[in-house]
Amino acid sequence: MTSAKKSVTVPDFARMKSEGQRIVMVTAYDATFAALVDDAGVDCILVGDSVATVVQGHSNTIPVTLEEMAYHVKLVARANPRALIVGDLPFGSYQVGVGQAIASAATLIKAGAGAVKLEGGVNVADSIAAIARMDIPVMGHIGLTPQSYHRMGGHKVQGRAQGNEPGGRDRLLDDAHAVDQAGAFALVIEGVPSDLAGEITRKVSIPTIGIGAGQECDGQVLVLHDLLGITKRDFTFAKKYANLHATVTEAIETYAAEVRNGEWPDSAHSYK
Ligand code: KIV
Repeated sequence: MTSAKKSVTVPDFARMKSEGQRIVMVTAYDATFAALVDDAGVDCILVGDSVATVVQGHSNTIPVTLEEMAYHVKLVARANPRALIVGDLPFGSYQVGVGQAIASAATLIKAGAGAVKLEGGVNVADSIAAIARMDIPVMGHIGLTPQSYHRMGGHKVQGRAQGNEPGGRDRLLDDAHAVDQAGAFALVIEGVPSDLAGEITRKVSIPTIGIGAGQECDGQVLVLHDLLGITKRDFTFAKKYANLHATVTEAIETYAAEVRNGEWPDSAHSYK
């Protein structure tokens, strides 16, 4: 039997931008949640290096390794989603040079991703071009780039100051242009003023996908655990579309109470 679902592909992103159709991206890190978000009809599943914070318990994304990212890409790919899977290249897996960048990108593609994402602009344009030349689609990521945690002094909104220094408004326009020219097929813009994200979106040829970047981007992305309210973190840029933290703790508290008072298991859930 053939499957009825038509996969979302890299060329669909350009078509969606040209038709004014907003792109929906969300993160997932395992097969169960990948199947859930795919059933909800998202266009793109990002196996983000945010796995370091929301799954592994780190305070930033720097510690996660390429091997760990490949593992999570494999888990997501097992859900066989209709959505395009983008695998995030973690810190240290592409900074050494273009050879390392291509090899790391290939690792995530072999694990089941249809594209890779990496952070940076002018400084990584060579690597984006080299990976794209190997027919591996690349998504760029500029603005608040979490792997630049130490340079930024934390997770700080970028592009508020003028100038060509990293994180300056003029530099971010240059970064966006460099990523576009290098052959990326899409660009994540994170944590910048809305008007700057709008200006970038109008100036580049590729679709922009915003997070904390206002309404004018061609698409939006959120971290799944923030969207579902699984973690207790509150961010200006993230809306909780559910409060799973409360739902899950209430369910487990009820289970614990029933175990302790002997209500669980009842006869309906016991074998004769
Ligand atoms: O890792 C991640 O989840 C990301 C998104 C915030 C864009 O890079």
